[in-house]
Amino acid sequence: MLGLRTLESDDWPLWRELRLAALTDAPYAFGSTLAEWQGSGDREERWRTRLSIPGARDLVALLDGLPVGMVSGVPGGEAENVELISLWVNPTARGQGVGDYLIQAVERWGAERGARTLRLSVMPDNRKAVALYERHGFTDTGESGNLLPAGVRRERVLAKSLATV
Ligand SMILES: CC(C)(COP(=O)(O)OP(=O)(O)OC[C@H]1O[C@@H](n2cnc3c(N)ncnc32)[C@H](O)[C@@H]1OP(=O)(O)O)[C@@H](O)C(=O)NCCC(=O)NCCS
Repeated sequence: MLGLRTLESDDWPLWRELRLAALTDAPYAFGSTLAEWQGSGDREERWRTRLSIPGARDLVALLDGLPVGMVSGVPGGEAENVELISLWVNPTARGQGVGDYLIQAVERWGAERGARTLRLSVMPDNRKAVALYERHGFTDTGESGNLLPAGVRRERVLAKSLATV
């Protein structure tokens, strides 16, 4: 059975555990690197700050009570936009709708706070994630996203209207 937990800054050890697992498992998927969050980058105050973004919602998916996935909804650059970031599902729990569940949770959160559009950035060759987002009705904005480390290609920026959520 799937459940959802909303994290507060005191929950930083759980977020840390999942985020370090995500950066280890899927370095191709994220702008942040494991190296940035290890060693001197791995500090309680830094994790707490990450879970204290004003107006954000940090969520963990529970499968039969066990934490198996994570996502955040954060306010966007403009008041009518929100963004989905940090989506990850443990490989042992994939293909069971956890990704769907987390995206829907962020869509509901965005709609409840009155946002019109949910945006996200995805690596262009992350086909699984792109397929998942397209299945949820996200489309390419055509905007140029952040440059990837090699400095040639860019992230894709996708968006979905929250009017019908
Ligand atoms: C992308 C990612 C989040 C998807 O998570 P997931 O939990 O496997 O997603 P879902 O289970 O909702 O959907 C995956 C597939 O399982 C299928 N599925 C969903 N529920 C199912 C069920 N109950 N039974 C069988 N199949 C199911 C979906 O139809 C989908 O199939 P498709 O890939 O052919 O479209 C996960 O692969 C991941 O964490 N990847 C690495 C990190 C990443 O890329 N993050 C995104 C950054 S932008």
